[in-house]
Amino acid sequence: MFKTLAIGAAVSLALIPAAGFAAGGGEQHIEDFAFSFEGPFGTYDRNQLQRGLQVYSEVCSACHGLKQVPIRTLTYPGGPEMPEDQIRVFAADNFEVFDPELDDFRPAIPTDHFPENTAAGAPDLSLMAKARAGFHGPYGLGINQLFRGIGGAEYIASLLTGYTGVDKEEAGAILYENTAFPGGWIAMAPPLFDEQVEFADGHANDLHHLAMDVSAFLMWTAEPKMMARKQAGFAGVIFLTILSVLLYLTNKRLWAPIKGRKHH
Ligand code: HEC
Repeated sequence: MFKTLAIGAAVSLALIPAAGFAAGGGEQHIEDFAFSFEGPFGTYDRNQLQRGLQVYSEVCSACHGLKQVPIRTLTYPGGPEMPEDQIRVFAADNFEVFDPELDDFRPAIPTDHFPENTAAGAPDLSLMAKARAGFHGPYGLGINQLFRGIGGAEYIASLLTGYTGVDKEEAGAILYENTAFPGGWIAMAPPLFDEQVEFADGHANDLHHLAMDVSAFLMWTAEPKMMARKQAGFAGVIFLTILSVLLYLTNKRLWAPIKGRKHH
């Protein structure tokens, strides 16, 4: 009995890492990038979020909006934590929004949201990291997500680094082969290349790093309160542990006179 249980456990444990790479139909390849915010104590890396913001602003914003994200949240604790005066300049320099009162476009201010962008038929990226899952398995049961999270950031980073360089024309549109995209062919041309964005502090800017930085930033836009949520969860676990001990002791004490009584 014990032996079968042990073998069963060993087999399922062995399946967990293997199945992460065969999400869904088994053709998608999602790389397991090591992000700072993984695990119960993981936190966002402020400098990485700032670099990701730069990649988004210089590259992705040409086609993708972030319409659910208020620009002022870039100054909030637990996020990129940009200084307020810098954000005012950043907003005005990088983004224009439509103002219904002026009936015209004007430079963005911190209380605006990032503009939406539908020009290229590209989806809004505000919540993309939560809308996509990198990990499903084994066999679509979602057990991997318990251990590794849903992997939305891994999915985006794998997508950005998953181009094979092959493209084809289909019904007048060009499709690019991508090992992370479901179905294998995506309408987005490879948007990121080595050294496409230069960081002021000279941080590594090969494709792999740029993809990770912008994916971390998009995880933050989708879940800006992740750190507060993890802290609250941890406090809850401690509280429930103490409560359980107290209840156990109270219970013991309440029943002590009755349990101690001798039966005749
Ligand atoms: C030239 C325009 C263009 C640029 C620049 C661009 N994208 Fe896209 N992106 C698209 C289009 C178009 C799609 C829709 C593709 C499809 O559904 O086949 C898309 C889709 C996506 C998706 C969704 C894939 C899915 O699972 O549905 C993600 C994530 C994404 N882009 C991320 C990015 C990131 C991050 C950047 C910046 C590094 C970027 N894109 C830059 C045009 C662009």
